[in-house]
Amino acid sequence: MPLIPLRILLDHAAENGYGVAALNVNNMEQIQAIMMAAQETDSPVIVQASKGARKYTNDAYLRHLMQAALELNPNIPMVMHLDHGDVPETCFSAIEQGFTSVMMDGSLSEDGKEPSTYEYNVEVTKKVVEAAHARGISVEGEIGALGGIEDGHGAGLTEEEAQLHLTDPEQAEQFVAETNVDALAIAIGTSHGAYKFKKKPTGEVLRMTLIEEINRRLPNTHLVMHGSSSVPQELQDIINAHGGEIKQTYGVPIEEIQRGIRHGVRKVNVDTDSRLAITGAIRTIFSEAPAEFDPRKYLGPAREAMQEVCKKRMIAFGQAGNAGKIPIKTCKEMVDFYTKQAPAVS
Ligand code: G3H
Ligand code: 13P
Ligand code: ZN
Repeated sequence: MPLIPLRILLDHAAENGYGVAALNVNNMEQIQAIMMAAQETDSPVIVQASKGARKYTNDAYLRHLMQAALELNPNIPMVMHLDHGDVPETCFSAIEQGFTSVMMDGSLSEDGKEPSTYEYNVEVTKKVVEAAHARGISVEGEIGALGGIEDGHGAGLTEEEAQLHLTDPEQAEQFVAETNVDALAIAIGTSHGAYKFKKKPTGEVLRMTLIEEINRRLPNTHLVMHGSSSVPQELQDIINAHGGEIKQTYGVPIEEIQRGIRHGVRKVNVDTDSRLAITGAIRTIFSEAPAEFDPRKYLGPAREAMQEVCKKRMIAFGQAGNAGKIPIKTCKEMVDFYTKQAPAVS
């Protein structure tokens, strides 16, 4: 089966009331972990790579690793998505490399740090939508700015500052009408990385009611939750028990993500949990078997630990059991769909 556009998968998820984990990759083991979890749970998958991941792997390695995953898992529908494209050119080069979906993150200005203006966001997102849809590629946009790690697609905002840049529901509605995006990332108080909340989040900092309001205004738009790692206590404990130094922190509880899924969230971005699982497994081997120096002896357990996280998320978000049910369409077939779509309002 060829790589499929994000839109097809999220349309099916919306029709059937489930969410799909969008899992970040940077190497072979992470791609394998996702595919092993997908096989175990019969799940369709969204594999996503950031600009940093593309630089780290080199697009050619990434492309061929994804092709290998397709070849070895012909029963699993797979989307290859660009996470946080910073400028249109990053999205265009991803399309050239065979990505079937791109995110144009115009919520931040070109420096990737400061929140941008609404007008700038519409301009760059529209430009990407026009070029991508002409080739049947899906586009995710973002309105509102997330907090979190500065070098990883947050505006460098603290938990408190992030509350000032939450998505405005009225602006979200206008943004979708003006850009025609297939999916919309919203800021509801989450942030990238491990340090999201200082205590288990309440509705005051994790604004689930905002999702409900956006969903009321945009019932046909697929919403995306970024910064959705749950930062499990057990993974923090494993790392810290083996020489790590993760300060006590709290992520997004699974039950809150499930609440989001009941209100239009279809794509749930998870990267940090995979990183924590991998680090915990490697630290464990390094401290318990310090004489070990065969990379397979620690990368193998790291892959298994990430597989376990992916499997848990696939089950919790409801994508499990759906691999064989997606009405497959290629990007080429989607061109026709977009041609018939009503034009964006300007
Ligand atoms: O949104 C952030 C993702 O976790 C990717 O992070 O830019 O370090 O690859 P990265
Ligand atoms: P986490 O850091 O919570 O895993 O978020 C990942 C993400 O949003 C990638 O775009
Ligand atoms: Zn993100």
